[in-house]
Amino acid sequence: MLAGRQILLIIGGGIAAYKSLELIRRLRDRGASVIPVMTKAAEEFVTPMSVSALAGHAVHRDLFDLGHEAEMGHIQLSRAADLVVVAPATADLMGKIAGGLANDLASTLLMATDTPVLLAPAMNVRMWDHPAVQRNAAWLRDQGFGFVGPNEGDMACGEFGPGRMSEPMEILAAIEARLADGPLADGPLKGKRIVVTSGPTHEPIDPVRYIANRSSGAQGTAIARALASLGAQVVFVTGPADVPPPEGVEVVRVQSARDMRAAVQAALPADAAVMAAAVADWRVASESKSKIKKTKGALPVLEFEENPDILAEVSQMAQGRPGLVVGFAAETDDVIAHATAKRARKGCDWIVANDVSPETGIMGGTENAVHLISDAGSEDWPRMGKQAVADRLADRIAAALS
Ligand code: C5P
Repeated sequence: MLAGRQILLIIGGGIAAYKSLELIRRLRDRGASVIPVMTKAAEEFVTPMSVSALAGHAVHRDLFDLGHEAEMGHIQLSRAADLVVVAPATADLMGKIAGGLANDLASTLLMATDTPVLLAPAMNVRMWDHPAVQRNAAWLRDQGFGFVGPNEGDMACGEFGPGRMSEPMEILAAIEARLADGPLADGPLKGKRIVVTSGPTHEPIDPVRYIANRSSGAQGTAIARALASLGAQVVFVTGPADVPPPEGVEVVRVQSARDMRAAVQAALPADAAVMAAAVADWRVASESKSKIKKTKGALPVLEFEENPDILAEVSQMAQGRPGLVVGFAAETDDVIAHATAKRARKGCDWIVANDVSPETGIMGGTENAVHLISDAGSEDWPRMGKQAVADRLADRIAAALS
């Protein structure tokens, strides 16, 4: 996988820079070539001498290094690589990319490149938690930047929490996965277009209030990730979820059920549709265009009307129906019986049913215990992580579409 690949490794200025030395060794052991770039701050933590000795390649340090500039411009430097890896990715480097700043070689390369970029953040836990850093990380994810870590643990500064850079072997695995995800990916879903809905919907009451539900979007996000990793072209239609969207998918953000329906219709035709969103069943009939005022003695009364049933609509399309339509059923009692009836009512091919009674901890949790209901009856899957459920479902979808 790594043999013959070229990695442009940008080392930022953080204590975790020492782990990048090990990363260089591991990459080279596997046959990759490493072109190292160091920021000024990185040189305070590891020496360019060690880096270039391990990389077997001179370190690029300066934007205005005329010798190098004459041989190979900085744009070429970043574009020749199969992958750009930033480790450690400091708050400063992430902020520069997100803010569009380019005042040294590392930030200029990052702005000039059209090569995929993988970031391995490392910083103090409070820095990582800072809203500005979180905003930058979310924006970068949205733009398709890959992330590995940060991990949670004891930090060099004596604090505990997320902010530790991933270990070299974890970064290596992420590099391999990222390269496999690239245009070379030859997974079983290559060439298949799949629409995935995910997350809750927000149904407006007035400009400041809405009705929502407890869906985190975790299961739908995991499914989109699993399908993309098998090579599918995924359109990910998501309500306002708690978890960031996965990499390598087309993200369409929506608020209400009606927005979601329009986005799904626009994304069709597709080979398959997986509707994991917790779509609100009702919306407020007369959404107020201005904020409803609190008036003494008069309580507002909300009237509801039914939302479109996106799953049923797609399942029952007369023309251009996706070859496989998968719905979800979150039930609190008689799970299999209700889900089987739901499958018939909606007209979808499969239903993934789960028990969301509060005592299961599934809604908003990290695990899921599901039943796959199809023509063939009901299959009970053991309780497992939401990503494992997603991976298994993606394998089944690949088998069904092949
Ligand atoms: O009817 P119920 O909400 O239990 O059905 C759940 C399934 O239907 C899920 O797959 C969900 O995404 C989908 N659904 C939908 N549009 C709605 C309601 C539910 O697509 N308005």
